[in-house]
Amino acid sequence: MAEGQGEQELPDFGEGSYWEEHYVKAAAEGEDVYDWLVGWTQLQWILEPLMGRDPRCAVLHLGNGNSPLPEEMFDAGYKDQTAVDISEAATLHMAARNRQRASIRWITADCRNLIQIPSDHYPLVVDKSTLDAFFCNDQHALAIMEFLKEAYRVTATGGTFVSVSMHRPKAVLPWLRHRLFRWRMIRARGGRGATSTFAAQPHWEEDFPGGNKRCKADESLEAHWPRIFQQVTLHPDSDLSSSDESDSEED
Ligand SMILES: C[S@@+](CC[C@H](N)C(=O)[O-])C[C@H]1O[C@@H](n2cnc3c(N)ncnc32)[C@H](O)[C@@H]1O
Repeated sequence: MAEGQGEQELPDFGEGSYWEEHYVKAAAEGEDVYDWLVGWTQLQWILEPLMGRDPRCAVLHLGNGNSPLPEEMFDAGYKDQTAVDISEAATLHMAARNRQRASIRWITADCRNLIQIPSDHYPLVVDKSTLDAFFCNDQHALAIMEFLKEAYRVTATGGTFVSVSMHRPKAVLPWLRHRLFRWRMIRARGGRGATSTFAAQPHWEEDFPGGNKRCKADESLEAHWPRIFQQVTLHPDSDLSSSDESDSEED
């Protein structure tokens, strides 16, 4: 992690093995649920309008851990949810805890490579502090770009990717504004407490000159991801320079 950490050694938040150990220990110590940063009470005001208050809205949680957010949303009426985490211990724990909320799907998977999830699929994709974990990865550029690439790919056209972060907008926005992602940033604010909230929607083609067809995330990824992947693989711990890849346009 970059800002203000000095020489302090940080836990391996960017590593799957760290989280598996963390959740095994949490369960052994009797921790049932834990919400990072904020919970449903603080997020309801932004998430519900983005779902059109439609209880059929399909929601994907990226790196859910043992956050109670999906179950609280379920109890508020949103039954169609999928929660992914790299830790099997967390996934199994949440599946068992929510046996009665049977329509929530709990999947153990790497959010950097969501092969089981089709493109252009979820009207609402939620990241709460999972992107933050990748900021701690030794190879953070690679980790962040792979994570955002998948978030972008699985967010439906017309849908929204919401990212709640402990970082200030100036640390996160350059990544979200990477030219690979043709997001329209509809909300980016330093939020309540120590959080920032970002809400981004895939652009529609009519926003660009020449047409009224929608822009599919896949088209942008197919055209540009191989080059970006090569770049972040060669320089996995680099930061973005606004001159080459980050789109500096104001919203
Ligand atoms: C800071 S915690 C946030 C947990 C939860 N979203 C919350 O807000 O309480 C980061 C979560 O990301 C998960 N995670 C880390 N790397 C991941 C990866 N590559 N794929 C899926 N989940 C991952 C961790 O297991 C952990 O549950």
